[in-house]
Amino acid sequence: MASKPPRDSELEAILEKVRQVRSFDFRSYKRATLQRRIDRRMAATHCRTRTAYLALLERDANEVNTLVSSMLIKLTTFFRDPEVWTSLEKVVRDMVRKRRPEQELRIWSAGCATGEEAYSIAIIAAEALGPGLPGTELKVFGTDVDEAAIAFARRGVYTAQQLESCSKERLARWFVPASGGYAVRKEIRRTVVFGVNNLVSDAPVSRIDLILCRNVFIYLDAELQKRSLARFHFALRQEGVLALGRSELIPFAAKLFEPVDLTRRIYRKDGRQELTWAPQDRVIHASEPTEPGRFPPDAQHPRDAQRVLLREVLDSHPCPVIATDNEGGIILFNQAAARLWGRTEADVSGKRLVSLALPGLSQDLLVEQSARVKAGRSEREVGDGTLKLLGAEPVAIRVLVVPLRSVSADAAGLLYVAHDVTTLRSLEQNLQLANDELNNANLRLQSSNEEMRAANEELETTNEELQSANEELQTTNEELQSTNEELETTNEELQSTNAELDATNRELAHRTQEMDALSFCQNTIIRALSEGTVVLDPTGHISTWNLAAERLLGLTEREALGQVLWTLSIPALSRSLLTRIRKHLTANRTLRQEDVSYQLPHGGRGRATLVAIPLIMDSQVLGAIILFEDTTRLNSLTQKNREMKERLKT
Ligand SMILES: C[S@@+](CC[C@H](N)C(=O)[O-])C[C@H]1O[C@@H](n2cnc3c(N)ncnc32)[C@H](O)[C@@H]1O
Repeated sequence: MASKPPRDSELEAILEKVRQVRSFDFRSYKRATLQRRIDRRMAATHCRTRTAYLALLERDANEVNTLVSSMLIKLTTFFRDPEVWTSLEKVVRDMVRKRRPEQELRIWSAGCATGEEAYSIAIIAAEALGPGLPGTELKVFGTDVDEAAIAFARRGVYTAQQLESCSKERLARWFVPASGGYAVRKEIRRTVVFGVNNLVSDAPVSRIDLILCRNVFIYLDAELQKRSLARFHFALRQEGVLALGRSELIPFAAKLFEPVDLTRRIYRKDGRQELTWAPQDRVIHASEPTEPGRFPPDAQHPRDAQRVLLREVLDSHPCPVIATDNEGGIILFNQAAARLWGRTEADVSGKRLVSLALPGLSQDLLVEQSARVKAGRSEREVGDGTLKLLGAEPVAIRVLVVPLRSVSADAAGLLYVAHDVTTLRSLEQNLQLANDELNNANLRLQSSNEEMRAANEELETTNEELQSANEELQTTNEELQSTNEELETTNEELQSTNAELDATNRELAHRTQEMDALSFCQNTIIRALSEGTVVLDPTGHISTWNLAAERLLGLTEREALGQVLWTLSIPALSRSLLTRIRKHLTANRTLRQEDVSYQLPHGGRGRATLVAIPLIMDSQVLGAIILFEDTTRLNSLTQKNREMKERLKT
């Protein structure tokens, strides 16, 4: 046998708290469901531990109410599980047919949640009762332990969504449009009485023809299921019908009721409970008859004649009967007893029954149980035993001990009546085996159901997570798309800028070519100039040094280029002249120096004109240009010209 799981003390404390505040005892409800419900509330109230949640329950009575409401799962619909309703229609039509005209048809929907089931069965019954509207002949009781659910049921107004499982025809016939959806027609509402009732602890409704208690037992443990079934047995009229939920295969129900449609969990109350003690006559054939002993009758006397008759009755009775006096001595041992135990009445008469050690009669039965009956503490006692007969199957007997009363009702001793229950016992054993198997199958089914439910919940959670991940991905995607769009725009802009740059580039290349050509012409011109031409950058470094400069100033272009002019030692340009040039250029002024005497590179002296011009464009100093023109010949020609003019004058 599977050992019970250890008690979860925090869960117990939570259930205890609920019991204190709401007087509702969930301790015999299935733990797995309760745990899941508590976990949900913990998640909703952001409590990470059971201890934290318990503390919340301590300070907030509203949370206790919410928890109770959440633990009483009220999932329901109109005509839930349609194929069951097809069977129920048949059951109700049958009841209506068999009903006496004045007899009220009484139906109880126990655990009816928000009333859909109670109204559904009222509609079915109204339809079975035939044309015209149901009157006082129909009474439906709808009960639930949840007050809010019952209050909702009483209003009898349902949304179109809640009525989805109700056919169009029934909707049209039994409902009228109302604000918020549809209202149950008053003819049906009149027949349904709603009330708060705990089917475990409150008094059951009585004299019921049909009880619907569907999808309630799945939440209860086996013990509570048995208790509730016993109450339903009591509440039902003889031949009354009980319908449980599709997933509620409860072995005990089949013990108490006759299954009518087991797959749909429909049972009938028959007389089987009362039949448990029905006598059986198999004992008669258990062993060979032995010579019966008798008390000598006196047939002449009328009382003796009666005694003889009684004796014959007793001896003809198939059940073994033994009577003892107040001291336990045997005063009667009928023929069936003689046959069963193989002893004659004469043999056992007067002897104490307890001392005979008759097989199948236990010491407990003969001593303790018999003493209880004898002392009046028990009306009757029952003991089971087995007899092993030579060459035959063992016989199981059930012995009933009752007081033996005299005519004046005084206690005269005890009467032991044995029944052969071999067949019953083997049937019971078979039934027990079948029940155990059913129980096991049920347990397996329940546990796989729970696993499936848990897996389902996990799937739901995963699904929710996936959905949220999906939403995030969609958001990211949208962001990426917009970034992409921006990138495309930027790309287009870049492409157009690129095209513009290309055009500019081409223009620049063209300009460069022009510039190159210009530069080439310029350089050629500069090189060809007869004046020595020197170009300086803003820092005084030489960037141009033409052929005339080479000739007049005595340095080759290669020697001069890149040098700082002011640091060079050039014979034609004295240090003082260089200093003056530098001063003027630093002050951005032009220097023109005529008839400068200078030393030629090969040693002679000459005259020259020097011009130093700062190169300034838009107030930016680009450097300077220095022109050095040899005027030696010009000067001598001018001199000669002057002398010739003088001579001509004289
Ligand atoms: C899942 S609903 C079933 C509703 C309806 N019978 C059906 O099958 O559609 C279970 C109902 O049983 C009720 N319930 C649970 N324990 C109960 C109890 N001890 N007494 C009465 N009703 C109870 C709950 O409040 C809930 O409304």
